[in-house]
Amino acid sequence: MTQDEMKKAAGWAALEFVQDNSIVGVGTGSTVNHFIDALGTMKDRIEGAVSSSEASTERLKAMGIPVFDCNQVDKLDIYVDGADEITAHKAMIKGGGAALTREKIVAAIADTFVCIIDDTKQVELLGKFPLPVEVIPMARSYVARELAKLGGRPVYRQGVITDNGGQILDVHDLQITDPQALETKINGIAGVITVGLFAHRGADVVIMGTPEGAKRID
Ligand code: A5P
Repeated sequence: MTQDEMKKAAGWAALEFVQDNSIVGVGTGSTVNHFIDALGTMKDRIEGAVSSSEASTERLKAMGIPVFDCNQVDKLDIYVDGADEITAHKAMIKGGGAALTREKIVAAIADTFVCIIDDTKQVELLGKFPLPVEVIPMARSYVARELAKLGGRPVYRQGVITDNGGQILDVHDLQITDPQALETKINGIAGVITVGLFAHRGADVVIMGTPEGAKRID
């Protein structure tokens, strides 16, 4: 099985969490794109979706799935999204696709975070994948200096403007032993919009695509 086939297996397996007549929280990325394709097959049984990016919104609409503004929805049963890295405790690094802020917002209103991954995403320690931090553009250099003080090596993701008008610093060389503490610390730096650590609100269920098919980890 290729990596994309494992992503596809995870994306389609996540359909088991979708309730009839519900509004579904939808993340961003290549694994989620498979989930959106799968969701399209049951579009007449759901009310619609809340999306975490312009890219996912476009794909959902192309499938004929109505997309609601997050402000119109009090709560979601599920939020389905991928991850760049995930630990056994279900803490994650996300934001490889620069959609981390909206992902964190939609995840926050969901009862259950269903994380869909291929088996390359599981790690013992977060940090090999550079940690994305979305910043207000005028704060970029200041935030980068503060991140360097924490032991990281921030690299400006050139040419990327997020859906919120932010910029991204990718922080290399971190070994994240306490993801919750680091999430709190980085969120406290002036000018940071969101850090791509999802530790305070991690995943609740993981569906992992493997060469043997999708496996569920509760
Ligand atoms: C998007 O900003 C990310 O958080 C994605 O969820 C993450 O990068 C996983 O992407 P893939 O499913 O494409 O690997």
